[in-house]
This record gives sequence, structure tokens and C-alpha cells, in this order.
Amino acid sequence: MKDLLRTADLSRADVELLLETSAEFAAKPLSANTALANRTVAIYMTKPSTRTRLASETAVAHLGGTPIFIRGDELQLGRGETLADTARIISGYASALIIRTFAQSDVDELGANTTIPVINGLTDDDHPTQLLADWVTIREQFGKDISGRKFTYVGDGNNMAHAWLTMGAIMGAHVVVATPGGKYAPDANALDVAKEIAKNSGATIEVVTDPEAAAKDASVLYTDVWMSMGDPENERSEKLKALSPFAVTPALMSLTTPDSIFMHCLPAHRGEEVEVDVIDGPRSVIWREAYHRRTTIQAILYHLVRGELSGH
Ligand code: CP
Ligand code: NVA
Repeated sequence: MKDLLRTADLSRADVELLLETSAEFAAKPLSANTALANRTVAIYMTKPSTRTRLASETAVAHLGGTPIFIRGDELQLGRGETLADTARIISGYASALIIRTFAQSDVDELGANTTIPVINGLTDDDHPTQLLADWVTIREQFGKDISGRKFTYVGDGNNMAHAWLTMGAIMGAHVVVATPGGKYAPDANALDVAKEIAKNSGATIEVVTDPEAAAKDASVLYTDVWMSMGDPENERSEKLKALSPFAVTPALMSLTTPDSIFMHCLPAHRGEEVEVDVIDGPRSVIWREAYHRRTTIQAILYHLVRGELSGH
């Protein structure tokens, strides 16, 4: 496996290795501090980022390398240079490329035209590095045995919902995604991918429109912003109205198991998709989850650059 272009690229064995290494990097951040010595990692983002950018830059530093951060408007791409040419150039300088952008097809094209690993740092369709951080955090809470547990995401059927379904499928989990349906449902293609993986992993995949039923007896209640980067502003009020029954309130949380946790990839909009009493309450693990963005990106870089992930 050369690249991490989408969550579905990862095999269960890859995820297990990455979770293990992330836990090691959490305990000992500098345990591989020469892995990228004298090497660079390019981080190219055409959308804003707080966590993914900081986690990526610190991860590279902890591996002894130098991050090169490039904003979307800074490359000759904006003046008509092709993605393929850009990919060849970056391959000549850097040992890996972390990319955050809109179209998944751009990430795929970069992967196809680079000789170095390309890592998806979020697209409109997927967010694989986030899901690894989420699952390290889940494992810290519940351990390896997740039988009988339900992992619920409520909200918009966006990149996070897709990644939630796919990673849950890989992990053999009972995953539930509750959205208002229609244009806010997860993409059919993402659901098909998760269902295909679930055939072999034993996962149970449910996509529903009832937030209460989805929250009932869940061990994890996860949500994300209702307006994602790139969503049309002129549809904001319609979208917020459609999503309002999916807000994570103390009442929704009270339907979950006694040991349940609240998760959110962040950034959050308190009072919109989640109420303050939940996100800042005792069941919220958001800060640990955000912390693991660094440990997991560090693990991904470490193993991908060494060619140690097998993929499917
Ligand atoms: N969760 C996440 O990807 O955060 P950023 O958008 O700040 O990188
Ligand atoms: N769905 C959100 C995730 C942010 C990490 C977005 O794409 O903006």
C-alpha cells in the first residue's frame, strides 16, 4: 500500500498496527525521532484546518523530519500547472504528501502521479486520519472487545458519516448513522463500500432517520458540524432546520448506555449540533480525541514511509 487515499484503503491488520503504534507514540512521542531525519513532508491544504495541520506538522517534527506547509493559493496549480506535474515535483523533494482539499478525485490523481505516499487529510467524501484518532480513543475507553456495543453517528451524511461507516465496517462494529435522509443521507456509494467490507468483517451497518432509536443503548454518540467546508451558504437555513432534530442534547445522551461517551471531530458549534452540557460534560472525550490526531498521523507517516501497510 503506497497511499492512504480513503478510509477503505485500510485493512483490519493495518488499523490494528496503526492503533498500536499510535498508543506507543502517545506514551513516548519521541520514540522514533530519527525515522524521518533529514527528510521533509509536504502538507498541502486548500481548506482551513486547525487540528489536522497542527497534528501533521508536530507528527513530522516528532519523527525528526521537517514539515513544509503549503496553502491552497500558493502553488502554480492556481495558474494552470497540472496536478500530475505538481505531483511529480513534490515527489522529488518530499518523503510524503498530506493533502486536504475538496474533490476526492484530486487526491486520487495525486496518488497516481507521485512516487511518495499521499495521505488524505480530508476531502468532501472522506476523513481517514480522523477515524484512526477516533478509534484509538474508543479503544482507550472500551478496550478491544466491542461485542454488543453500538457506535452511533447523528447529523449530516457528510465526509465524517462516510468515514464512520467505513471504519466501523473494517472494525467489525455495529455502526449506526442517523441523518434526516434525502440529500442529507450518506452517499449511496459510501454505504455500498461499507456494506461490502462488512460482509467479511461481520460488522452491522445501519443507516436510519430516527435519532432517538439510533442513540438508544449506544456506547458512542458522535456528531459533526452541520455546515461543512464548501457547503453552499445559501442553503444554510434550510439545512440547519432539517438537522435540528439531530442535535446531541442531554435528552438524547440519556438514551445511551451508562458508560457511553460523546465524540466530535471538531470544530464544534455549541448550541447547533451539540449542546454545551454534552460537549463540555463528563462523557465528552473530545480533547483526548483531538490529541490523538497527532499520535495517529505520526503512526501513519511512520508505517507508510517504511512501506509497512498492506491495504486491501
Ligand atoms: N477534525 C479536524 O479535521 O479538524 P481541522 O479541520 O481543524 O483539521
Ligand atoms: N464535515 C466537516 C469536518 C471537519 C473536520 C467538514 O468537512 O468541514
